[in-house]
Amino acid sequence: MLGTRRYNIGTAMVLLAFFLAVVPSEISAQSSSGEACITCHRTISPGIVGQWEKSKHNEAGVTCIDCHQAGKDDVDGFLHNGERIAIIVSPKDCAQCHEKEYSEQKGSHHAKAAQILGSLDNLLGEVVGGEPAVAVGCRQCHGSIVKVDANGRPTPDTWPNTGMGRINPDGSWGSCSACHARHEFSVKQARQPEACGKCHLGPDHPQIEVWNESKHGVLYHANREELNLDAKPWRAGKEYFTGPTCASCHMSEAGKEGVTHDVGERISWTLRPPISVKLNMVVYEDDSKEDILGDAPLLPQAGEMHSLGEGEKKKVKQTLSWQERRQKMQNVCTQCHEKTFVEGAYAQFDDLVVLYNEKFARPGKAIIDELKAAGKITPPDFDDPIEWTWYEIWHHEGRRARHGASMQGPDYAWWHGLYEVGKHFYTKFIPELKEVAGEEMAKELMDKYLYEIPGHQWHRDGMGKDALEKIKKFYEKRYGE
Ligand code: HEC
Ligand code: HEC
Ligand code: HEC
Ligand code: HEC
Ligand code: HEC
Ligand code: HEC
Ligand code: HEC
Ligand code: HEC
Repeated sequence: MLGTRRYNIGTAMVLLAFFLAVVPSEISAQSSSGEACITCHRTISPGIVGQWEKSKHNEAGVTCIDCHQAGKDDVDGFLHNGERIAIIVSPKDCAQCHEKEYSEQKGSHHAKAAQILGSLDNLLGEVVGGEPAVAVGCRQCHGSIVKVDANGRPTPDTWPNTGMGRINPDGSWGSCSACHARHEFSVKQARQPEACGKCHLGPDHPQIEVWNESKHGVLYHANREELNLDAKPWRAGKEYFTGPTCASCHMSEAGKEGVTHDVGERISWTLRPPISVKLNMVVYEDDSKEDILGDAPLLPQAGEMHSLGEGEKKKVKQTLSWQERRQKMQNVCTQCHEKTFVEGAYAQFDDLVVLYNEKFARPGKAIIDELKAAGKITPPDFDDPIEWTWYEIWHHEGRRARHGASMQGPDYAWWHGLYEVGKHFYTKFIPELKEVAGEEMAKELMDKYLYEIPGHQWHRDGMGKDALEKIKKFYEKRYGE
């Protein structure tokens, strides 16, 4: 923690220019205590010094002490070879020199990623799994609450950890090295999809798999050396022309969009919950943010006092409707595509989300709610097989379908996605429904929630004559059978 030291880059540059003229450059940029850290650590941890030496920080004269120095009040500070230092370097510490990035990050969902205690997933982790699994699983992605021992050292059950929403001893949220691996802290590394892929993968949010298989991923792998990944600025259509990465679409500069450290700014749906909804954003004067859900909610005006629910009212700086958030993303796409193409891609994406929502998610959720209300399934969430089935339908398979559609991964949209939703809906969910509710109640629920929907009627009536005829004709034409 820097605490008392405020680094002024302007002054540093002037001093640097002056020193460069009169003293050898080796020592010019470094304070004497910074130099002591480097000299000693070059022998005891040469890897760390080697990473730092390659960094822009080294070029700019930012040394160990600039990040690791601790203030008097920092609970994680300790005396180390004559300096009070801390191991933890929080976003607030980086903010001494990178205020813009910090202010964008601090209100984002990324910064809040450790607030998962009340969630269904957490119940799964803590109860079905157990604490050690949560420490090496959930919290390495979401972030731990870093605790400090009597010597100022972070405790082994809470650190090492670079989870996205880590709660730091100074009260700040997040970990900048979640994406900018230390001690190089390079933009080139953070712009590559692997920077996100540590967390955005797997059965429930396979973004990197989707992207790898999309044309964008294909073109990235084919042209990686031509993408000018360390350019500054790095703009789609200017410094590179193909193979957009996660950062290109969600963070980097493109057309009139500047770089943002709020990865959620350009998304218009949430594809995570059982039923997807649109996202509108409220930004307050203190840079905190909230999502307001829905297609057309009344959004507060700038200057108004506002809060969601019971919370304390705060002054609104700005609101972004879901349409405006979508426009921001489309401003990226249109650096490389035309409007008709982009709108077409969005229409296909929206249609899939609506299909999933209306055909499977709403009826599935309504049926589960009725089973709970009627006492047919018991309150603990993961003790009935149908609860696992339903969980995987929306949390794994339904998300995969939606994620595949949003980022051009057809295999995830269909085979790993809606195909699995359908298969498990008809061959597991419905049989398990009959088992827990009995034939009669099951029939009632299915009449009420499923068979109203034309897309489910085949399940009751069989494949209609017309449908069967069509399929037969298709195969005749194709295989002459
Ligand atoms: C005289 C040699 C020496 C100097 C100077 C020195 N260190 Fe260290 N440092 C060490 C050694 C040895 C360790 C291994 C852990 C220990 O025994 O404290 C260490 C550990 C650390 C750790 C990890 C602490 C832990 O408990 O794991 C940090 C962070 C660190 N040093 C940063 C710095 C910074 C920043 C400076 C400059 C202000 C600095 N060091 C100066 C020798 C040095
Ligand atoms: C730009 C800021 C920055 C600079 C400069 C910097 N560090 Fe770090 N350092 C970090 C961050 C961030 C972490 C991760 C700690 C955490 O989890 O919060 C870290 C972690 C460490 C650790 C503990 C982690 C490990 O892998 O053992 C040591 C030791 C360390 N730094 C030493 C150094 C030394 C020596 C230098 C100078 C050569 C240096 N640092 C320069 C930001 C910095
Ligand atoms: C591999 C990294 C990783 C692991 C391990 C992981 N998560 Fe996540 N989690 C994510 C990512 C990434 C998202 C966001 C997915 C998206 O936006 O599609 C997420 C989303 C969530 C959400 C939804 C948050 C919201 O606001 O809607 C909850 C809750 C959650 N995870 C809890 C947990 C719990 C509890 C565990 C352990 C039992 C866990 N996660 C394990 C990476 C992980
Ligand atoms: C989700 C991953 C991610 C996290 C977390 C993250 N960054 Fe970044 N950061 C990036 C990417 C990607 C870029 C490159 C953007 C571009 O293409 O110009 C970047 C760029 C930067 C730059 C260079 C800005 C410029 O225009 O030269 C700074 C400084 C920076 N980040 C600081 C931070 C700080 C401080 C934090 C923590 C508060 C942080 N970052 C957290 C991904 C991240
Ligand atoms: C004492 C001031 C200072 C602190 C503290 C500091 N930085 Fe920097 N950082 C700089 C300067 C100066 C540059 C170089 C500016 C440039 O190249 O535009 C820089 C550049 C960067 C870049 C761009 C690297 C690239 O490849 O272009 C990133 C990313 C970054 N810092 C991240 C961080 C993170 C993360 C932290 C905290 C762990 C941090 N910085 C702490 C001053 C600082
Ligand atoms: C070509 C641009 C593009 C690229 C490349 C891209 N995305 Fe996306 N991403 C999107 C769009 C478009 C959406 C949906 C936006 C909306 O809701 O309006 C989205 C949605 C998301 C979401 C929200 C999912 C949810 O559950 O609500 C996450 C998380 C995400 N992307 C992460 C990533 C990661 C990680 C990568 C790289 C592996 C990546 N994206 C690559 C365009 C892109
Ligand atoms: C250390 C793990 C981790 C890394 C690395 C990571 N993310 Fe995330 N990301 C998460 C988690 C966890 C969430 C869910 C946070 C929540 O809402 O609680 C998330 C959420 C998101 C969202 C949804 C934001 C919103 O407002 O709902 C997007 C988009 C996203 N990440 C993109 C990225 C991109 C792009 C990168 C790389 C540049 C990246 N992430 C790197 C863990 C990570
Ligand atoms: C840096 C340039 C770039 C950006 C930014 C970009 N794309 Fe692309 N995209 C391409 C290229 C190049 C192709 C390959 C065209 C082809 O040959 O089919 C492509 C292909 C596609 C395809 C066709 C996929 C297929 O399998 O045929 C879709 C759909 C698409 N992009 C949508 C989008 C959307 C939506 C966005 C914004 C969220 C976006 N792209 C952003 C360069 C880009």
